[in-house]
Amino acid sequence: MQAIEKPEYKNLVTFTPNKKTPVYNWLYYKEGYSRELALDLLEYLDEPVLDPFCGSGTTLLACQEKGLESTGTDKLPLAVFASRVKTRYYSRQEQDKASEKLEEVMEGSEPMLDQKYSSKTRKAFDKPVLKKIIGYRNQLVETENQKIRDFLLLALINASMKSSYAWKDGAVVKIKKRPVPPIEKSFRRQVKIMKQHLKKLDREKVKTKVLKKDARDTEIPDESIGGVMTSPPYLNKIDYTTAYNIEQELFFQEKGDNLIRSFFGIEKEPERDSDVTELLDDNPPLEALAYFNDMKKFLKELKRVTKSSAQAAVVIGGGCFPENVIQSDEVIAKLAQKIGFHAPEIWIARHVNCMKNRTQKVGETRESIVWLRKT
Ligand SMILES: C[S@@+](CC[C@H](N)C(=O)[O-])C[C@H]1O[C@@H](n2cnc3c(N)ncnc32)[C@H](O)[C@@H]1O
Repeated sequence: MQAIEKPEYKNLVTFTPNKKTPVYNWLYYKEGYSRELALDLLEYLDEPVLDPFCGSGTTLLACQEKGLESTGTDKLPLAVFASRVKTRYYSRQEQDKASEKLEEVMEGSEPMLDQKYSSKTRKAFDKPVLKKIIGYRNQLVETENQKIRDFLLLALINASMKSSYAWKDGAVVKIKKRPVPPIEKSFRRQVKIMKQHLKKLDREKVKTKVLKKDARDTEIPDESIGGVMTSPPYLNKIDYTTAYNIEQELFFQEKGDNLIRSFFGIEKEPERDSDVTELLDDNPPLEALAYFNDMKKFLKELKRVTKSSAQAAVVIGGGCFPENVIQSDEVIAKLAQKIGFHAPEIWIARHVNCMKNRTQKVGETRESIVWLRKT
């Protein structure tokens, strides 16, 4: 296995370039990677492409731009929803209908508080704004045409966060009182922008599926996938359940508690699987054990669903602990080898300092692309 420095990917492994990219930016998903990275790596992959941790749908949109069939799965309802809305095709007529519906909702909805929301959600908005958002949402969910309903709902999710005091600092949602645009303005503006974006994104009409499934058990048929481009949750990094709690609570009526972290990262007494323990130091953090146990299950699932010789590009960052760092790229590559993949190359996109108490450097973690090929 060869480790190759690829500084040209330093920014591309982050979501930042997507912030200005039409359609890709319909949901701000801090944990995502860029369109450019996906377009680049897809050059090496055969179709149909799978992204088992599809998040905000970056891989799937890039596949559409390249005319490749793809499937994405994710466990977070918000991610599945956003990926579906972003990868649908909308006719001129549907777009006009969305504008008509928007005006109907703006004029006809009653501001209301329908249930007790968590203190984080309440603090994120001025009360009249929260009531308006709920009023719009309640009227929107009655819309018969599912495509138009979802299009406007995603616009409202985006607009709501723009008109909120919530501010995402990594996994933590902070509340910072500051001047924000009125929700009516954000909502109308977002729908207008989304319609303009549809003209700007040049994509082919290809089959794209988005499923709410667990990456360790996707239910995708055996040996049906030609290539994989994905980025699993990073060890010890983002708790997806809290990072998107406001959106989840307001729009999906689920906080997302125990939804993701129960699958990746938390187990009281993780199993001591020798395939995993052999690759870690003595007495590894329990979180790391649980995490790589899950990674093993995910890699086995990848082996099952891919065709022979299929390639996978796995974008992954290391784990930062008070005592040491764990280079996840190397552990995943070696774990994959045990399962039946070749792991010829690791492309190191960037090095990140791992700090203790914000001042003491523990070491450096890497953010890399691990290349795998089914044997
Ligand atoms: C690093 S993000 C992927 C971001 C994506 N590449 C993008 O550009 O938007 C990891 C994703 O894994 C999802 N996830 C976590 N555990 C999962 C599981 N067990 N099965 C499927 N998806 C899961 C999270 O909801 C999150 O969307």
